[in-house]
Amino acid sequence: MAFDRRIRIAPSILAADFANFGAECEAVEQQGADWVHIDVMDGHFVPNITFGPETCTALRPHIKTVMDVHLMVAPVDRYLEAFAQAGADILTVHVEAGPHLDRSLQAIRALGKKAGVALNPATPASAVEFVLDRIDLVCVMTVNPGFGGQSFIHAMVDKVRQLRAMIGDRDIHIEIDGGVTADTAPLVTAAGADVLVAGSAVFKGGSVTDPAPYGANIEAIRSAAEGA
Ligand code: DX5
Ligand code: ZN
Repeated sequence: MAFDRRIRIAPSILAADFANFGAECEAVEQQGADWVHIDVMDGHFVPNITFGPETCTALRPHIKTVMDVHLMVAPVDRYLEAFAQAGADILTVHVEAGPHLDRSLQAIRALGKKAGVALNPATPASAVEFVLDRIDLVCVMTVNPGFGGQSFIHAMVDKVRQLRAMIGDRDIHIEIDGGVTADTAPLVTAAGADVLVAGSAVFKGGSVTDPAPYGANIEAIRSAAEGA
């Protein structure tokens, strides 16, 4: 079967109610999310701290789709096993997080997980050129990692285009992370992206007791992205 490049929307729980993560994951899935994106920050690689493998373990039963774990952690290798055991489906590491990217990617696949690589805004597309056969996803950061609610960096659209050409017919998703809205989504899907992470643009206006706005927000991003 051909690789499925349908547009996927992956809400980031960084913008959810931190006192209600389980219910928030269920709410966004009921409202049409394709994946759930979990932003792990270590206060060292990025200037913010979020949560670790125990939170992922606790969330796993509340996520029926895909648990997409974005590790903003350095050094990361010593934590891969814990996040794999927590039930992640995809483990994404940063190119900039250590000197041995190829080794980290091999370790993720050896743990039976899909392997992703994230690129900070200043990191060129060529950084993944020699690991293409080891990855299932490349995540283009369209903000500097560390915080939700930042503005989309437009210069990244060219990077997406370059990656799409580089990937060719390989089964690799192009994920966009940061500042995704109904306005910016079509720019990146037209350039070749297929997975859109969105935090603030999905969770704005809703709550676990009033989740309908999540659905409307997801639909607005999806239809803008598909119309590109
Ligand atoms: C940033 C995170 C993103 C972030 C996106 O470091 O990796 O996933 O939550 O948030 P928005 O969509 O608000 O830019
Ligand atoms: Zn992220």
